[in-house]
Amino acid sequence: MSIKYSENKKTFSLNTASATYQLKIGNLGYVKHLYYGDTICDEDMAYLIRRYDRGFSGNPYDSLKERTFSLDAQPQEFTTQQQGDFRINSIEVRNADGSFSFNGRYLSHRIYQGAFTLNGLPTAFATENDTVDTLELVLEDAVSKVQVTLLYSVFEEAEIIMRAARVHNAGDKMIHLERIMSFNIDFLNGKDMDLISLPGRYGQERQVERQPMTHHVHRIRSGRGISSHQQNPFVALAGRTTNEDYGTCYGFALMYSGSFTAEAELDQYDQLRLVMGINDSMFNYPVAPGEDFDTPAVLMTYSHQGLTGMSHNYHKFYRTNLNKSKFVRDVRRPVLINTWEAAFFTFDDVKLVEIARAARDMGVEMMVMDDGWYGKRDDDNSGLGDWYVNENKIKCGLTELVRQINDLGMKFGIWFEPEMVSEDSDLYRAHPDWVMEIPGRHAVRSRNQLVLDVGRKEVQDYLIERVNSILDSANIYYVKWDINRAITDLWSNALPGDRQGEVSHRYVLGLYRILDGIVKTHPDIMFEGCAGGGGRFDTAMLTYFTQYWSSDNTKPLDNLKLHYGSSFLYPVCSMGAHVSEASPMVPFETKAAIAMCGTFGYELDATHMKKKEIRACKKMSDLYHKYYDLNFFGDYYRLSDPFEPVNLVAWESVAEDKSEALVTVITVGLTVNGPQEYIKLKGLDPDRMYRMDYDGRELVLSGSALMNGGIPIPREVPDFTSFIYHLRAVK
Ligand code: GLA
Repeated sequence: MSIKYSENKKTFSLNTASATYQLKIGNLGYVKHLYYGDTICDEDMAYLIRRYDRGFSGNPYDSLKERTFSLDAQPQEFTTQQQGDFRINSIEVRNADGSFSFNGRYLSHRIYQGAFTLNGLPTAFATENDTVDTLELVLEDAVSKVQVTLLYSVFEEAEIIMRAARVHNAGDKMIHLERIMSFNIDFLNGKDMDLISLPGRYGQERQVERQPMTHHVHRIRSGRGISSHQQNPFVALAGRTTNEDYGTCYGFALMYSGSFTAEAELDQYDQLRLVMGINDSMFNYPVAPGEDFDTPAVLMTYSHQGLTGMSHNYHKFYRTNLNKSKFVRDVRRPVLINTWEAAFFTFDDVKLVEIARAARDMGVEMMVMDDGWYGKRDDDNSGLGDWYVNENKIKCGLTELVRQINDLGMKFGIWFEPEMVSEDSDLYRAHPDWVMEIPGRHAVRSRNQLVLDVGRKEVQDYLIERVNSILDSANIYYVKWDINRAITDLWSNALPGDRQGEVSHRYVLGLYRILDGIVKTHPDIMFEGCAGGGGRFDTAMLTYFTQYWSSDNTKPLDNLKLHYGSSFLYPVCSMGAHVSEASPMVPFETKAAIAMCGTFGYELDATHMKKKEIRACKKMSDLYHKYYDLNFFGDYYRLSDPFEPVNLVAWESVAEDKSEALVTVITVGLTVNGPQEYIKLKGLDPDRMYRMDYDGRELVLSGSALMNGGIPIPREVPDFTSFIYHLRAVK
């Protein structure tokens, strides 16, 4: 059992292979957080917590004038509301009498084998190789009878603890949640911690920022209805001196695809509180007597092996415990070509077959028909919502088109953007009330499209029926699921005015229901997510989509940063990355080397390529297959930081048994007559010898030499040269 309860000490110790997380039923039934870090055998770490009379910090009434017990200064597992703790809150509940109060104290607990699941929200699951136990600990407010169950599933070998909170109204009157976080974690000392996040913008997603904790609330949020390009629902807390390889690092990945918040507060005593959950802006959720409200889950991990240790924990887990699709691991993903940058909206069936035929010689195995194939869709002003094949363009019909592509020996993929509608569409004309639009106001347009009220059941049913009927009409192998705007005008015509605070969250729940009805019912189709690039690239989406389009920005050098930031938690096999015609000064080979740090494909017009380029592409497609397993499933190491002024950007994949490694190096700023640059490898077996081709000759070197001496990178080479070194251990 990875969870131990000490009846004597009233502590719960949650143990992964190398970490312990400990909590305790403390004074007056408040549940204290005691410890999260390297494994400890001690049953009770409460000695760490001292109590003092802290001025202006209130004391619970039943502490009987004991002035040293204040929730404002105590580390807690989940907060109360209006009980004298003035730090950021995990919960804000408006009770039936209008009061804002929650005084949650221990009521009961149970421990069981297996992972928890949530109503309507995705969670990670246990595989046959995992030992997983779950603790459910119930806090109750004795007056309102509001209960909060804290859920913890410990994935022992994987070093992951999945948490969530479930609110249950055990009273007899309606309550309203105005804020409910997925978890709360209090560190006893956070002054020397840095907060790492992945901010960005359209075309530049998941950049990396690291800031020292100071005495204010650091807030990372999306209010865009999608997890967003601007912030990713992930933060890490790292020791000030933590680097790639050494030091403590905690990761927190929220499994939610809508507006979210992550708030970290360094308090007056240098304690650090972190909460994450649904963004509480315009959020107000009623919970009727007897009903539950589940928060999204969060995946926490701890490592003392720096940022790399944290990333490895996530990568391994994401490759096995999020998505049961056979395309994650068992079935090799084909090299694809996407028609978007080749044809935009101007194509017909003949042009598509031409692209496929030309692409075949590049080693492409699947053609993806992007936007423009349905309804009246000749530009981005019309057609969204009408998921019927446009037979003016696809004159032979979809079934026949797919047959022709299949006859070329290629698979066929298709694009959808189901959550959106154009005003110029039959769907909008038939159901204008299905859009999000506030009565008496005009909805905000974005890319000239409006947002469907996806929280509404009839909208969900329409989309499930429409998309499934297209998928079932032809031999479709792949779907790209897009969303091309943020969500505004939160209003549902299906709900009365006083329930509009539910709309944003209902949208996300509706989306998950739609995906359950489409993705889960088509196990033989591979799904890729997209949101104008990586605007909804998050952990929850990866439970549905095998991979996610990283960015609409296919410039290879920008992608070096994008991949670096994404790799903090997302594995290579989840990141969509294509070779395109952007950045002509970068050689094709280098573009391909960079796209291989993701799920490889092309985004260009194959019919315009020169013979020489086609041959170069074929070579690269073959290379992608040659190193597929090593690249997708090896341990990934960031060897340099592209946010620093470096001359080389490099990364490495090492096979689990350390028998092989693939090192990619891109020259980005080698000056004339400059110093020799070295790339030091990581993760090899120091005592084994590795063979590699180097500068036209074979080298055999120990893992130790390669990790400590490194590889000298040839420097008199054209700008943006790429080097791919494959190392194989000599038996
Ligand atoms: C978004 C996607 C692109 C493409 C277009 C189609 O911008 O990110 O890859 O699919 O939509 O409209």
